[in-house]
Amino acid sequence: MREAILEVIEKARKTAEERDILINTLHEIQRMFGNFVPPEAIEVISEELKVPLSRVYEVLTFYTMFSTKKRGKYVVRVCESLPCHVEGGREIVRALKEELGIDFGQTTPDGLFTLETTSCLGLCGVAPVIMVNDEYFGNVTPEKVRELVKKMRGDAR
Ligand code: FES
Repeated sequence: MREAILEVIEKARKTAEERDILINTLHEIQRMFGNFVPPEAIEVISEELKVPLSRVYEVLTFYTMFSTKKRGKYVVRVCESLPCHVEGGREIVRALKEELGIDFGQTTPDGLFTLETTSCLGLCGVAPVIMVNDEYFGNVTPEKVRELVKKMRGDAR
C-alpha cells in the first residue's frame, strides 16, 4: 500500500502547485481507497510531505468531502440549506432514507451507499439539489432520486 501512496504523492508533486499538493494527494488517496482516507495513508502522507499529522487531520475534517471513515461506493449528499429545503428538500430526504433504509452518516449493509448532508452547493437555481460522489443532480423529485438509487444499484451489479 505504501508504494501506491508514494506514487500518488509523487504525481501530486509534479502536477500541483505547492499549496495544492496536500489536497490533491488526499483527493486521489480517497478515490483510490473508495471514498475514504485510511489512517495508514494519513501517516505516510504526513511523513512524506513533512506536514504534521494534526495539520492533515485539520484539512480532512475541515472539508466535508473527505472522510476518515469507510464509506459506500456512492456517497449521496443532500443539500440542507434553506433554498433547497423550501423547494422540497424534506421530501427528498424522506425518499432517500426510505429507499436506502439508512439515516444520515450511515452506510448500507451492502457497502454501496452512504448518506450525508451538505450545505449549499451553489446551485440554488435548480433546487433541490443532491450530489453523488462528484456529480450534481438538480431539480430532483422523490421519484427521480428513487430512480437514481435503483440505477446505481443496477450499475453496481
Ligand atoms: Fe441547495 Fe444552494 S441551497 S444548492
